[in-house]
Amino acid sequence: MVLVGASGSGKSAWARANYRAQEIVSSDDLRGIVGSGRHDLDASADAFRLLDDILAARARRGLTCVVDTVGLEQERRRGYLAVAKATGLPAVAVLFDAPAAVAKQRNALRDRPVPATALSAQLDRAAGVRAELEAEGWDEVVVLRSESSSVPRPAIEPQPPAEPDGLSFVLQVSRFPWGEDPAGWLRGIALAAHEAGFSGIALMDHLIQIPQVDRAWTPIPEPWVTLGMLAGLDTDLRLGTLVSPVTFRPPGITAKTVATLDAISGGRAFLGIGAGWWEREHAAYGVAFPPAAHRLDQLEVAIETIRALWSPGTKAYAGERVSLPESTCYPRPVSNVPIIVGGSGERRTLRIAARLADGCNLPCDESLDRRIAVLRRHCEQVGRDPDEVAVTVLDLPVVGRDRDEVWARVEQHRGPTTAAAFARTHHAGTPVEQRERYAALAERGVSTVFLSPVHLHAPEDVLALAPMLQ
Ligand code: UTP
Ligand code: MG
Repeated sequence: MVLVGASGSGKSAWARANYRAQEIVSSDDLRGIVGSGRHDLDASADAFRLLDDILAARARRGLTCVVDTVGLEQERRRGYLAVAKATGLPAVAVLFDAPAAVAKQRNALRDRPVPATALSAQLDRAAGVRAELEAEGWDEVVVLRSESSSVPRPAIEPQPPAEPDGLSFVLQVSRFPWGEDPAGWLRGIALAAHEAGFSGIALMDHLIQIPQVDRAWTPIPEPWVTLGMLAGLDTDLRLGTLVSPVTFRPPGITAKTVATLDAISGGRAFLGIGAGWWEREHAAYGVAFPPAAHRLDQLEVAIETIRALWSPGTKAYAGERVSLPESTCYPRPVSNVPIIVGGSGERRTLRIAARLADGCNLPCDESLDRRIAVLRRHCEQVGRDPDEVAVTVLDLPVVGRDRDEVWARVEQHRGPTTAAAFARTHHAGTPVEQRERYAALAERGVSTVFLSPVHLHAPEDVLALAPMLQ
């Protein structure tokens, strides 16, 4: 991001208000470091050489860099633009369009004003620079209009942020740093989720903590037992797994477990179910892990069995893949328990979801639109109304109150992944930015977000998400 504007047009003030100190590279600051002070013009050549180095280094890592110089020399701008193009980063020019009188007035108030003739020359240059910028090939040229004393505002007022209309949010808890008090920790998280505006809680169903989340020896509780405890709290949260591998339990046992949870929670259960993927946990616990095609067959059998056991009466069931001599399952669920298929295999998993499920949970990445289209196509092929299969996503954002906290959390959680890549896959941003993203997801047909914040240690971390949900 390259700032352009005469002295006193408000570039540095705006940069400080919108970016982290480490993201801004300023020729004045660098003069202060290699020269006698910020206005030591003899140090300019050294300062700009350093600026170029810093810009190149940050761009190479995919990190935001705000170039805070006067920006009126086209040659230099072209150089900055070339760095962005070479590293595949978006390049934005920000033009500070301050009335000459304002710039002069601000200049006069400074300890070391720019000489009047120099400022006039800059203001003349600035007046004609917009046309140059438009022709230079920036991905975006933003014009900020400065009023007398406020930080400059965009010449075109941004629209009020879109509402994530109709989306519901379920807190997905995947890490359990509960210390000495597991029940107290769970209770605190659940009550905070209720207070923050989540409609439910989802738990992972794994026997060993998965490497994507934490170390293998950190606790990962059996989800249905845990959900039973959460059902006893005074909330209206929906409760379920995302997702239970079909390999873990015979489907009839899952039907019994979930029916019981639904009955004791007053109709708040849901069932996420999938083919399973992690061989290690199966081996460790002596659970069979057949090849993928077989597990997908199991998934079809499981959904059919569960639905048979949840249907009214006790009659025998003879279906496509499953025959049962009776379907005596009491307590029966008291609600229409949604069955959500997790997984993204486009040929079979999505087809199973289209045929048999109430919802399909997809990863929240660049493949989403394509997979939604595939799911809809499967629905049409199997004669199912696509609106009957809800699209849900698992979203693992890094959220922080401001840019500083966002990036501190990226750094804390990124592990060996580069910060820029981690920030991108985890949609790092403030609550306002997340809300805009959710509004866009709602537009694209998503109905529920399973939200698993990367940073979730204590109830306060859950409450901090509230502004994103309303
Ligand atoms: P800046 O220091 O932000 O200007 O503002 P600049 O564009 O970066 O100028 P150069 O190129 O480095 O010389 C100049 C003065 O105006 C005040 C700032 O606090 C600073 O003292 N200012 C800026 C405002 O009072 N309101 C604003 O909206 C912007
Ligand atoms: Mg400045």
